[in-house]
Amino acid sequence: MIKKCLFPAAGYGTRFLPATKATPKEMLPILTKPLIQYGVEEALEADIYTMAIVTGRGKRALEDHFDRSYELEHQIEDSSKEVLLSEIRSLIKQCTFSYTRQVDMKGLGHAILTGKTLIGDEPFAVLLADDLCTSVGDGVLGQMIEVYEKYQCSVVAIEEIPMEQTDRYGVIAGNLVDGTDDTYRVTDMVEKPDPKDAPTNMAIIGRYILTPDIFDILESTKPGKGGEIQITDALLEQAKQGKVIAYKFKGKRFDCGSVDGFVEATNYFYNQGNM
Ligand code: G1P
Repeated sequence: MIKKCLFPAAGYGTRFLPATKATPKEMLPILTKPLIQYGVEEALEADIYTMAIVTGRGKRALEDHFDRSYELEHQIEDSSKEVLLSEIRSLIKQCTFSYTRQVDMKGLGHAILTGKTLIGDEPFAVLLADDLCTSVGDGVLGQMIEVYEKYQCSVVAIEEIPMEQTDRYGVIAGNLVDGTDDTYRVTDMVEKPDPKDAPTNMAIIGRYILTPDIFDILESTKPGKGGEIQITDALLEQAKQGKVIAYKFKGKRFDCGSVDGFVEATNYFYNQGNM
């Protein structure tokens, strides 16, 4: 059972400056809902009720979002506006939220290691809120948990991307397993390779199921690409023992960490009437 979801949310969001100067990038809204809320909803849909958020300086709006706002709520009580808060109120009721701060920004691997204190010794999900996913049936995390239950090892979600974009992602190589056309046993993974060095065009997106031994591996993972501690490098250690599955998820992903992806997501959700 996967009971906890870790949300690394300490990053600066420099691609969205000046919007992210005083506002966490995870609070940027697609229509009326902040990115982090879409992420929490996806976790909840996968029957995860414990949200572990790794924050940093200037991120207090995240905590306030998942809490009551007495004055505001009092103000709109019994008005037609109250319904606008019903979704977030229901989330707050169903989930617990815990927080820890990443003091130094040393990469995604380091952020995940910072979350160890909230996770403990059990397998857990990781969700990067700027990758916004939507699907017709089960959400991406829900799909990945099914894969985890079968293989009992770390799982990364992947998507085929244009070859010239490999330097934006962790990229995997692997072999299809059990006659499937969407599930690979990972043999290699590289963080943000040049297209000429990339083993494939299969990119890791911001969804992971990790087994807790990843924390020990991260403790001894040396800084990699960009001088940061990379989760991709730690996962490669597990992959060398055949313990990483890559799963081509069903659904659609928007890279809301980029302006193009953000606009695309906004238009998509608007056209779906998801207000
Ligand atoms: C991180 C990971 C990368 C992964 C990506 C998914 O990169 O390091 O391996 O492909 O998330 O969104 P970032 O986007 O934080 O630079």
